[in-house]
Amino acid sequence: MEMYPIKDKVEIMILENKETACMFAAIRFVNIARKAIAFHGSFSVALSGGSTPAKMYEILTTHELHNRVNWSKVNFFWSDERSVPATHSDSNYAMAMQYFSKPPFNQARVFRMAADDANLEKAAKEYESLIQTHCHDQRFDLVLLGLGQDGHTASLFPHTKALEVEDHLACANYIARLNTWRMTLTFSCINQADKILVLVCGKDKGEALHHVLAGESNISLYPAQKLGAGIGSVLYITDKDAGEAAALFTT
Ligand code: 6PG
Repeated sequence: MEMYPIKDKVEIMILENKETACMFAAIRFVNIARKAIAFHGSFSVALSGGSTPAKMYEILTTHELHNRVNWSKVNFFWSDERSVPATHSDSNYAMAMQYFSKPPFNQARVFRMAADDANLEKAAKEYESLIQTHCHDQRFDLVLLGLGQDGHTASLFPHTKALEVEDHLACANYIARLNTWRMTLTFSCINQADKILVLVCGKDKGEALHHVLAGESNISLYPAQKLGAGIGSVLYITDKDAGEAAALFTT
C-alpha cells in the first residue's frame, strides 16, 4: 500500500486489488464523515455512479465500520445521474439505494438527481438549491468519483459544454458520443468540496489514469485533469491493475 504525491492537492494510493481499494475508500469515507459531523454537525457527500463503487457501498453498509458514523447526520447527494427513472437499471440512484435505502440511513436526507425530468435545466437549478440549502457552507464535505476510460469523471465528458460551466453547482450536459443527456455536478462544485476521492480499478483504466495524472495538460480531452483546481484535496484510490497499467512512475 503506497501513497504517492502527483501535484499540489493531488495524490494517489495504490492498493493490492479492488477489494482492498474499496475497503480503504470506505475507511476514508468513515473518517471524513466522522470529522465533518464532529466539526459542523453534518456530513454531505456526493456519491459516484458507475459500477466500481458498489463494493465500497456494500462495505459501508455491512462491515462493522458503519457503526462508526451517525448516519442521521448524513446528507446523500449524487455526483451525476443518467436521464432515466429512479428504478431503471442504469440509474446511479438505483445502484446506491440497493445499499442506502433502509435504516440507519435517513431517507429524508437522500437527494436524488431528477435527471429524467423533461426540463433538465430546471431540475439542475433545483438540485443546486438543495446543495445550497443542505450542505454546510454550501459545499460538499466529500465528493466520490470514478474515472471513465476516456478520462471523464462524473458526467463531465470530453468536449462537452459542462466542462465550461463555472457559475452553477449542477447542470445538464449532452453527451453526443452516447447520444444522451445527463445531469452532473460541475467542476466549480466538485473542486470546492473539502475532500475528493476518485476510485479507479482495473487494467482498462490504466491509460486514462496515465493521461489524467501524467499526460500533457488537455482538460477538454481528459476532463479529470481539472480535479484539484479548488479548495479540495484529491486522492485517487486505485488497485494495482490500474495503478501499474498507468505506469505513472519510472522504477
Ligand atoms: C456514471 C459515472 C461515471 C463513472 C465512470 C466509471 O454515471 O457512469 O458517474 O463517471 O464513475 O464512468 O464507471 P465504472 O465504475 O462503471 O467503470
